[in-house]
Amino acid sequence: MRAETIVRNNEEMRRFAGEFLSSLDQSAERATVICLNGELGSGKTTFVKACAKILGVAENVISPTFLILKTFATKHKKYKLLHHIDAYRLISEKELEALGWREMLDDSRNLIFVEWASEVRKIMPEESIELNFKFIDEETRSIEEISPSSSSGW
Ligand SMILES: Nc1ncnc2c1ncn2[C@@H]1O[C@H](COP(=O)(O)OP(=O)(O)OP(=O)(O)O)[C@@H](O)[C@H]1O
Ligand SMILES: [Mg+2]
Repeated sequence: MRAETIVRNNEEMRRFAGEFLSSLDQSAERATVICLNGELGSGKTTFVKACAKILGVAENVISPTFLILKTFATKHKKYKLLHHIDAYRLISEKELEALGWREMLDDSRNLIFVEWASEVRKIMPEESIELNFKFIDEETRSIEEISPSSSSGW
């Protein structure tokens, strides 16, 4: 499935994040991975912040650029941990694996957002959801969602 949404302000970003979170398949048996791509300043971190807020993350989510991985506890009944990864400065897939990537994927309570996922594409699970951010103008962004189709197991 492909769908494009135009986001013009914070309120629309909150709405998009809320609708996105409610669309997730909560019966998934592995972690839920959301690959975020798009140029610098296109809104990836802003989107993760909006999701964190809705999920009841108490801490302030800032860009993990210098940390690579930051983990937050949520108040959601299924997604207990929100992991925020920024692959911009990762040298390789190996580096992400060294952070415990495989173990993270094995736990269905994990909701994992990966900024610059294109940098580590090879180890992103096939069932990941992709969000592609585009700068339209100073205040407007477009977000294209590409979800694995329900028949992908055929
Ligand atoms: N409609 C909008 N949606 C999202 N962000 C917007 C919008 N309009 C303006 N902005 C601003 O654009 C900036 C987006 O920055 P953000 O850190 O989310 O980008 P990013 O994609 O994470 O970049 P990076 O690749 O550097 O991590 C913020 O300063 C935000 O306030
Ligand atoms: Mg960012």
